[in-house]
Amino acid sequence: MDFKSRYGEWLNLINQSLEAYVQEKNTPEKSIYRSMRYSLLAGGKRLRPVLALAVCELLNGDMREVIPFACALEMIHTYSLIHDDLPAMDNDDYRRGRLTNHKVFGEAQAILAGDALLNYAFELMLSHALSEAGSTYKKTKAALVIASASGAGGMIGGQVMDIEWEGKRIEAEALEHMHKCKTGALIKAAVVSSAILCNAGEKELEVLEKYAEKLGLAFQIKDDILDIEGSAAVMGKEAGSDARKNKSTYVTVYGISQAGHLLDRTIESALSDVIYFGEKAYFLKGLAEYVAAREN
Ligand code: IPE
Ligand code: IPE
Ligand code: MG
Ligand code: MG
Ligand code: MG
Repeated sequence: MDFKSRYGEWLNLINQSLEAYVQEKNTPEKSIYRSMRYSLLAGGKRLRPVLALAVCELLNGDMREVIPFACALEMIHTYSLIHDDLPAMDNDDYRRGRLTNHKVFGEAQAILAGDALLNYAFELMLSHALSEAGSTYKKTKAALVIASASGAGGMIGGQVMDIEWEGKRIEAEALEHMHKCKTGALIKAAVVSSAILCNAGEKELEVLEKYAEKLGLAFQIKDDILDIEGSAAVMGKEAGSDARKNKSTYVTVYGISQAGHLLDRTIESALSDVIYFGEKAYFLKGLAEYVAAREN
């Protein structure tokens, strides 16, 4: 199977699973399901869940055990996007090719839709941790990895820095830390949680962690570059958002061409990490190349 067709196959699998997990309901609070589904089922690259499935394939794990965790990762990611777009944060009007959640449902509902997706992610992981199949210990550990990565020491911490450094001159070291937290942490958690579920050995886990850290950093460097160079029609979100909010990014600190070099170097390093897995790393290699070349 080649990288592209595999990606397509897993993207469909994730979309179908998400659709099944978060269904419309005809209960008095039904509007919450509509707003959750509006953002969750709006497309998106599904990078984090796909990454979890890729690690599962690499380690010959059981996909059925990983899918709920992969979907939980996407729910947490989608909640972070809904909140990231709010007027109090980046104040953006478009996401995944449609109006942002708060533009359609109002700010209060958008905050709640984000909260509900976050909670649902944990409900899903915990209910699978308690189910008969597979080891409860492993599944709880995977959920813990995802919880820490999403919290104050991970994604939320990075988002806090992102806001605090608006309009200020950030040092290179703090910038790297911010990117590793706000975007890198959840991407790394996708890899590590799946590796735990699929019984990775110590060395395998170490290699995967190194790869994922670089992939996550590279992903946000590319996002910063696309904010300048990307097309709104292709990205499904407006370009120029960072400049409008005076964000500190790889482009403001290094300039566009140096940011491009740093991206390439980070990707090369990620590629050399997974040589360890030989041919089995075809998807992780393809994904690293895709992150550098992506246009959305
Ligand atoms: C956008 O994430 C926000 C960042 C963390 C850079 P993605 O680029 O993965 O967005 P979707 O999920 O494809 O919409
Ligand atoms: C968002 O970073 C990171 C998140 C945790 C949501 P950005 O603010 O750069 O993401 P986009 O460009 O709006 O997708
Ligand atoms: Mg932001
Ligand atoms: Mg944003
Ligand atoms: Mg951005």
